[in-house]
This record gives sequence, C-alpha cells and structure tokens, in this order.
Amino acid sequence: MSDVKIKSVLSSFSHMAKRLEPLPSDKPAPDDNYVRLNANENPFPLPKVVMQRALAAMERQYLYPEHDNVSLREAAADAYGLAKDQVIAGNGSSELLGLIYKAFLNPGDSVAMLSPGFSFNRKLAMLHGARFVEIECNKANFLPIDELLFGPAEKAKFILLANPNNPTGTFVPVAEIERLAAQSGHLIVLDEAYVDFAPDNGLRLIDNYPNVLLLRTFSKSYAAAGIRVGFGFGHPEVIGRLRNIQNVFNMNVIGHAVGISILAHRAAYQENHKHIKHERERVAFALAQLGFSVKPSHANFLLARVPAGQDGRWWQEALERRKILVAFFPEKGLENYIRVSVGTKRQMDAFLNAVSGILDRSSIQNQQLEKN
Ligand SMILES: Cc1ncc(COP(=O)(O)O)c(C=O)c1O
Repeated sequence: MSDVKIKSVLSSFSHMAKRLEPLPSDKPAPDDNYVRLNANENPFPLPKVVMQRALAAMERQYLYPEHDNVSLREAAADAYGLAKDQVIAGNGSSELLGLIYKAFLNPGDSVAMLSPGFSFNRKLAMLHGARFVEIECNKANFLPIDELLFGPAEKAKFILLANPNNPTGTFVPVAEIERLAAQSGHLIVLDEAYVDFAPDNGLRLIDNYPNVLLLRTFSKSYAAAGIRVGFGFGHPEVIGRLRNIQNVFNMNVIGHAVGISILAHRAAYQENHKHIKHERERVAFALAQLGFSVKPSHANFLLARVPAGQDGRWWQEALERRKILVAFFPEKGLENYIRVSVGTKRQMDAFLNAVSGILDRSSIQNQQLEKN
C-alpha cells in the first residue's frame, strides 16, 4: 500500500484507536518446553466424559452454534439455581467484561476498581474513553466501602470487584460485598473468576440485589481456558440488554458442548481443586523458606514479594531463561513482586528448583564480588 493510502487509512481510526500502538508481532510463542505459570491456567486434562463431548461436538462443525447459547444458559441456570433469563454465556468472561463496558459507558464516564486489580479493565476503560478510578487496597478481608461510594469513585457507572482478587489472591467476605451492594445505587461487577478456590461465593446476592452482576469463567477452575466459556449472572433486564448487544454466534459448538458437560460433571473436579489448594500452600511455604514474602491466596496463584536485591522483572527474566514463565506487573507497588500460577506438582517442583538455582547462582556471584 502506498504511503499516502496507509496515512489516509490510519487517519480514519477513532480517537481511541489512534491512542493505541500497533501490537508488536516479533515475540515467538513459547514452545512446549516452557512451564507456563503466568496466566493462571489449570494444567490438568478435561475429565474424560467432558473430552468425549468435545470430540463429539467436532462432528457438528458444519453447523452454526445455537443462537443465543440457549441450552448452555439453561444448563448454567439449572446448575446455579437461577432462571435462564438471569444468565448470559460468553466466549470467556473477558468477552462479558467487554460487553459491560460497551453497554454502560459513554466517553467521559468513569468506572472504579480496587487496585491492584485485573489490568485488562484499565485497557477496556481506555478503549471506551472512560476515566479509570483505582482505589488502592491491599488488605485481605476488607473492602474500602466509603472510598468506593464517595470521592473520586462517587460517579462511577460501575464498580469492579474481583473476589478473589487478581493479582493479590485476597478474598473479601461476601457480607462486605453485600453491604456495598445494599448501599450503592451503581452496578457492582463481581468477578468471581477464581471463586472455586475460595471459601465462599456471591451467588446468593443475585436474587436480592439487582445491581450485582456476577461473572464466572471455566478457564481457571475447570481447565477450559483454551475453549473459552464464561458466564454472567444478574437481573434479567441487565442480562437481556447485554445479550442483545452480543456478537452473533459468540461461542462455538465445542464451547457449548464442553460448557454443558462441565456443568453436569462439576464433582469430577474435586481432586483437581484439592490438588491446586494443596500445592498453593506447599509452594507458599517453600517460597517463604527461600526468602520470598508470600501473600495468603484464595486463588490458583501466589503473589510473592521477591527477596531484597533484585526486582520482580529481574526474577521474571531469570526464570524465563530457565524456561519457567511467571507474571510480572510493572505498575506502581508491584515492582518487587512476581505472580506464580499454581500448576501440577511437577511444574511447581521445576519452578522451586529454578528459584533455588537462581538464588545459589546469585549468592556465588556476590561472594566472588566480595572476594575481588
Ligand atoms: C479476574 C479475572 N477476570 C476475568 C478473567 C478472564 O478470564 P476468561 O476470559 O478466560 O474467562 C481473568 C483472566 O485472567 C481474570 O484474572
């Protein structure tokens, strides 16, 4: 394309899109030799019965998937004790997050989120021209209700609460969220992506608080991140409008089949969840022994403050050289942390071995420096 033409095309981007850089495409995807502990995936295979449903669904590849995800929404409604019109199904819960921004925000509006929080929300707010109000709160068991209701968050069109929170792993008692929902006239988006690893959940709020919209995903606790199944539960008027602005055929036939089958076989995941909670505690203890400071977590990941001397980015890169991927967040307050997803025992042993190796190596280097 000529320079003149591409300039003309680029100048037609919306104000929002103009503010974004094109994504670089130079980084190769990590191969299967990497231990992926950076995206809070659940590394176990699907239960056999669910996998059989996925394979059978492949044979319906020539058909469009069911309109409006009716059977999947019905199955979720049955499983969670709701009515079908209280349920929306998404291509992952991130699709539903995007719909919420689209449905509720005009440029110049604001949204509020506890910080640190799920950073995808910052991008969504930016894309919709919204002001993103971050309320700092790092405390477990605590919700800064006044700060979420008054001050800079007062006019927020909705408040985002992830419970358990990502990346901290902290969990706020549902009674606190209920207090907020009772006092607030705004929509509360309660993102329960990690709730199956936590002691409680907010499902019971749905029928009593029309301003609560709850999000769930099968990416974390049901080992289906690559299949993309998420749900929103809320008041039929809110859910119905969100469904109305959703893309046609937003999910595929495999997502439908897997979603319905997981809903019917949730008990098959008991061992999976038990394993992850057990590994979470084992790795937290081991990391503490190695000089990290680890927050108690109610999710399938740990946020660990790295030992003094190096920052989180340094640790992320040092681990990546050993083929272990963990998450690092450059934002203020998280510079000295890494977030490590909890996987299989084998993956976690590989991670702990790599950490020990890095610590040994840097202590040898320090000793050599002292000698010289
Ligand atoms: C808090 C939170 N919400 C939502 C999501 C999106 O999950 P998915 O789109 O896979 O359902 C994530 C993924 O990391 C998350 O951490």
